[in-house]
Amino acid sequence: MKTVSGFSKMTKLEKIKWLSEQLGKNESQLVLNMPNFWHPDQEVQKRFDEFSENTLTNYDLPFGIAPNFLINGKIYSVPMVIEESSVVAAASLGAKFWLERGGFKAKVLSTKKVGQIHFQWQGPHEKIKAFFEERKSDLLNAVAPLTTNMEKRGGGIVDLSLLDMTNKIENYYQLKLVAETCDAMGANFINSLLEELARVFKHLVFSDGRFESTEKEVHVIMCILSNYTPECLVEVSVECPIEDLGPMVNGLSAREFAEKFSTAVRIAEIDPNRAVTHNKGIMNGVDAVVIATGNDFRAIEACAHAYASRDGSYRSLSSVGLEGDVFKFSLTIPLAVGTVGGLTSLHPLAKTSLAVLNHPSSSELMQIMASVGLAQNFSAVKSLVTTGIQKGHMKLHLLNIFNQLDACQEEIERGKAYFSDKVVSYNGVRDFLKMIRG
Ligand code: MEV
Repeated sequence: MKTVSGFSKMTKLEKIKWLSEQLGKNESQLVLNMPNFWHPDQEVQKRFDEFSENTLTNYDLPFGIAPNFLINGKIYSVPMVIEESSVVAAASLGAKFWLERGGFKAKVLSTKKVGQIHFQWQGPHEKIKAFFEERKSDLLNAVAPLTTNMEKRGGGIVDLSLLDMTNKIENYYQLKLVAETCDAMGANFINSLLEELARVFKHLVFSDGRFESTEKEVHVIMCILSNYTPECLVEVSVECPIEDLGPMVNGLSAREFAEKFSTAVRIAEIDPNRAVTHNKGIMNGVDAVVIATGNDFRAIEACAHAYASRDGSYRSLSSVGLEGDVFKFSLTIPLAVGTVGGLTSLHPLAKTSLAVLNHPSSSELMQIMASVGLAQNFSAVKSLVTTGIQKGHMKLHLLNIFNQLDACQEEIERGKAYFSDKVVSYNGVRDFLKMIRG
């Protein structure tokens, strides 16, 4: 592969041509096929191109629906965008199971977000602390024009504090901003506020007569929102009498299932190796809704895993309670998401997802995402402690293998019957196709 300059200035077709010329014949053909994935509507395609940079084409993912989610007494059909087989099926099975047992009860515990101005300042701690307390209202007044709109929607700045971090890094302080951003994810709002606050803070310190010449300079290292949002938290639970859980396959009684399930979740509370996979199952559900609604799955992932480690060791985000005759399964997870701004209204299918969900507020969306995460986790652990995960997974995977091997519909139908009582493997499917094709 050669280096290139001016790549970003080329047209899309020029970029495709350049890239194809760097590759061998077969690979080059794949690149030249990229326009086949362009959207037929040029306006829509232009919008997709503008989401990112150096765009060549679109990368399609399946958009599915998990119906029958009963959340706080309301039924939802939840849009999910995910490439992994079994995830939508598992969420749907979890939703159906709990639909018949009272559904999901979700509540938002808080919705605050944080931004930080990281800076260094040389001088006595008490002096900058006293200055900050005295001039805090001037700082807030200076950024008032930036918060007016958010305040009209019920949000704005909740708190601004000075943190002395000089015991960790020499001369290092933070101005910590806590904000309520209502239905917006709020990244732009918080970042703009931080940059303006930093500018005003620098100026106020510089022009204040109490500071010696060596104390006048505030060295701003960076201003950025924090994607760790443990105060943007939602809790969801399902519960029913233990006897209503069963009977299960493999002859497990309801109580045996409840106890096995509970032990599986406790293992994820004490063993990080298992906890990561357990939480990955939760995020299978959460991320699929995050992507379908045009939210930022990287931020959600980073935050969820930091939260899972909040007490010093990584553990399960969900937990089980077996009290007397009642089985309760719950999930608490930070989810900083928006239903206005960003991709939510620009991506036509994100817009569609929000319409399918009947235009939820960000708090309602947090509850929906958490419910899907819990449903997903319930179905995964239920399979693991009963039939094992491969049985259901392989049924769907079988179809993927047939598609990879270009099987026709008749071959797929015969294959489904053939593999109904056999272990599915790529080689097994290939041999089966060879056999029936003679
Ligand atoms: C696979 O994507 C997710 C699971 O591994 C989750 C789990 O083990 O709980 C099935």
